[in-house]
Amino acid sequence: MATSTHGSTAGGGRFTYVAAALAALNGLLFGFDTGVISGAFLYIREAFVMSSLVESVVVSGALAGAAVGAALGGRLADRWGRRRLIIVGGVVFFVGSLLMAVAPTVEVLIVGRLVDGVAIGFASIVGPLYISEISPPKIRGSLVSFNQLAITSGILVSYFVNYAFSEGPVLELAQSLFGAAGWRWMLGAGMVPALILVGAMLFMPESPRWLVERGREDDARAVLSRTRTDAQVESELEEIRETAETQDGGVGDLLKPWIRPALVVGIGLAAFQQVTGINTVIYYAPTVLESTGFGNTASILATVGIGVVNVGMTIVAVLLMDRAGRRPLLLTGLAGMIITLLGLGTAFALPGLSGVIGWVALACLMLYVAFFAIGLGPVFWLLISEIYPLQVRGTAMGVVTVINWVANLVVALTFLGLIDVAGQSGTFWLYAALTLAALAFTYFLVPETKGRSLEEIERDLRDSALGDERTGMVRDGTAGDD
Ligand code: GLC
Repeated sequence: MATSTHGSTAGGGRFTYVAAALAALNGLLFGFDTGVISGAFLYIREAFVMSSLVESVVVSGALAGAAVGAALGGRLADRWGRRRLIIVGGVVFFVGSLLMAVAPTVEVLIVGRLVDGVAIGFASIVGPLYISEISPPKIRGSLVSFNQLAITSGILVSYFVNYAFSEGPVLELAQSLFGAAGWRWMLGAGMVPALILVGAMLFMPESPRWLVERGREDDARAVLSRTRTDAQVESELEEIRETAETQDGGVGDLLKPWIRPALVVGIGLAAFQQVTGINTVIYYAPTVLESTGFGNTASILATVGIGVVNVGMTIVAVLLMDRAGRRPLLLTGLAGMIITLLGLGTAFALPGLSGVIGWVALACLMLYVAFFAIGLGPVFWLLISEIYPLQVRGTAMGVVTVINWVANLVVALTFLGLIDVAGQSGTFWLYAALTLAALAFTYFLVPETKGRSLEEIERDLRDSALGDERTGMVRDGTAGDD
């Protein structure tokens, strides 16, 4: 709670907190709508007859939609404005959730998942964008990590909702009122935060930076002066004007030699964040646990535990990020993921230990999520907001975010099939091997950005390109060279 009333501080004051709360709501919806399928799926599978391909599509439809939403989101945010896109996104979230909740057939359910996914894609781009444009530079970094915290919280909320509607008093009450099956309540619950988001955004101003770009400086001034003194407003406007002038880069600019290394790092981390398997746990944990002998409700309850670990360790990561640095967290996290994935594969390879296997698998799953949450989870989203020169930051983040969703989709689509072909063990061992590749990639290529200003990072990128060109010199320090 912000009790300091006077002088809304150089940091932007109350307005910034409100913006952060809205970021939380966007991230929360992102997390909720991606996580909710995990528990709902157990019941959907009982309600409809589906091939394993259709099953995958039910789970993955939202991801395909998200890739599309992320690809369109950047442009729409420029054309309509950030605020309007968030409002439209909220409406799309609502419509998607409604469609899923009332779906009479699998086809409608899939359409609902697709629609919902487009909103998730919008949220993954415009949420961070709005926040970074509205918050003062000094606290921008922590607000970006805060976004991952919101995502994991949304996932956790979805698990609670799944649990509440799997059996027991909440489900009974809901059914005595309307009679619909539990999974419909789970998927429909997303309508609530969507409505709150739309309602809240109606009272939020547009991003001052977008207004300046549109030549609406007076409107921008009005927004800024809500929380800043006149002098602060003018100096910030001046800064925004300068920034606005430099931000023109298109996709082609990403291939400039001096930007290319950062592009490689972003694309690599985007893909590795997904192909190391995190979302097979986030989306399929109850299904995996069920196969080790847990019942439906017990599996969903265990999944709540996984969600708690995810949120808890993300908080630890946010606290350590600026002290320990990005690289140590990422490397430690990846090493831990490798060990726990190997353990998970081994647990499933052991014959006939069904009771014990369940617990070993659960312990490995929890630790695996913990190691993801301390490294690859938050560090990816943070680094992609840091390593790109201002001029191409928006474009680069858009490209890399789309790749993240496509990789997510590929993993979700192949997971159940992989299990059929390679078994649970083979599947987790494959993820372990990919995580090993991620570890090597990080070790050799990912730079440390801790404690450096974005301008310093950008200057380094230029200098190292020039250095390589002129003298063939390699640059010192943490970032590898190639
Ligand atoms: C990251 C990933 C997302 C995943 C989440 C789990 O935000 O991008 O795909 O579901 O972490 O915590």
